[in-house]
Amino acid sequence: MNEYKIAVVPGDGIGPEVTAGAVMALEAIGEKFKRKFIFSEVIAGGCAVDLFGEPLPKESFDACKRSDAVLLGAVGGKKWDSLTDRFRPENALFALRSGLGLYANIRPAFLYPQLRHACPLRLDAAEKGIDILIVRELTGGIYFGERGRKLTENGTSAYDTEIYNEKEIRRIATVAFEAAMKRKRKITSVDKANVLESSRLWRDVVSSVAKDYPGAALNHMYVDNAAMQLIRDPSQFDVMLTTNMFGDILSDEASQLTGSIGMLPSACLGDQSPGLFEPIHGSAPDIAGRDIANPIAAIFSCAMMLKHSFDLHDESRAVETAVLRVLDLGYGTADIFSQGMTLIGTEEMGSRIADEIRKGE
Ligand code: IPM
Ligand code: MG
Repeated sequence: MNEYKIAVVPGDGIGPEVTAGAVMALEAIGEKFKRKFIFSEVIAGGCAVDLFGEPLPKESFDACKRSDAVLLGAVGGKKWDSLTDRFRPENALFALRSGLGLYANIRPAFLYPQLRHACPLRLDAAEKGIDILIVRELTGGIYFGERGRKLTENGTSAYDTEIYNEKEIRRIATVAFEAAMKRKRKITSVDKANVLESSRLWRDVVSSVAKDYPGAALNHMYVDNAAMQLIRDPSQFDVMLTTNMFGDILSDEASQLTGSIGMLPSACLGDQSPGLFEPIHGSAPDIAGRDIANPIAAIFSCAMMLKHSFDLHDESRAVETAVLRVLDLGYGTADIFSQGMTLIGTEEMGSRIADEIRKGE
């Protein structure tokens, strides 16, 4: 395959700004490595609610499904916060994740030496390094369980259901163990098995999958402890395997340890293509349209796309190298800025990275 069809979903807030930077980087990769990337823009999220009355029109879903990979910016914003469930922009994300069968969300949290100054931990903890792969289940749990409201004698009550089956747990655990075998072979499975029945099943199934990986070391950790251990000593973690909601929370926490949420990419993968790649940050409406957002998470998401969906490993490395080169040169967006650096905007960051890709050896 020498032609790659990429559906680009800019979405809302800072989504369009960061995906523009990511497309610039991919175009530079295309030129440098003689690959043909064909981009098609897809409307989803709040902007689709405004235009078509629903967050993910069928044409938008079909366009993503037809592509070889999806690059997504971010969806949502205050403007649509009062809408009910089905019409919320976030529903575009859930419909894509579940409709494309993307049950595995891979979120690497790595502390680059260039960003050590931005890590909020004590110097001795930061110096031990952070290199964690969060494997978050993405199409089950409380995000997709039954929810609703009912009238009771105490007024309205509302409920959401955390529910997992063996198949869902086994397949995400397998992704985590496979990933760990290529890393330090250490897996921490995060749950709340001292309280939740779904977590007790989670624990049982993860332990049974572990039997197929005698070379890997598995430990189980309660989510409250995991949140604390991440701050106390993140160097103890290699792969963290967890549910949809716990993974959502822990990945934001881990991102801050690496300097900025503006740096962390993610890959959403299933058993068949296309994969979906998105920064872990949201739409950040407060800084949207001001050319100050960091496009690096979106650009790193493209590096993950090149590697995971297209098997283009040199190209993927070239993206990462170019980002680090721009950081080495002392350029930074506001979120990672510190004294002595040169403050630049979203667009300039994207074009500097694209230039570095073109220059690269
Ligand atoms: C994420 C985001 C989403 C999630 C939101 C926008 C619904 O926080 O990808 O982490 O909770 O999955
Ligand atoms: Mg999140």
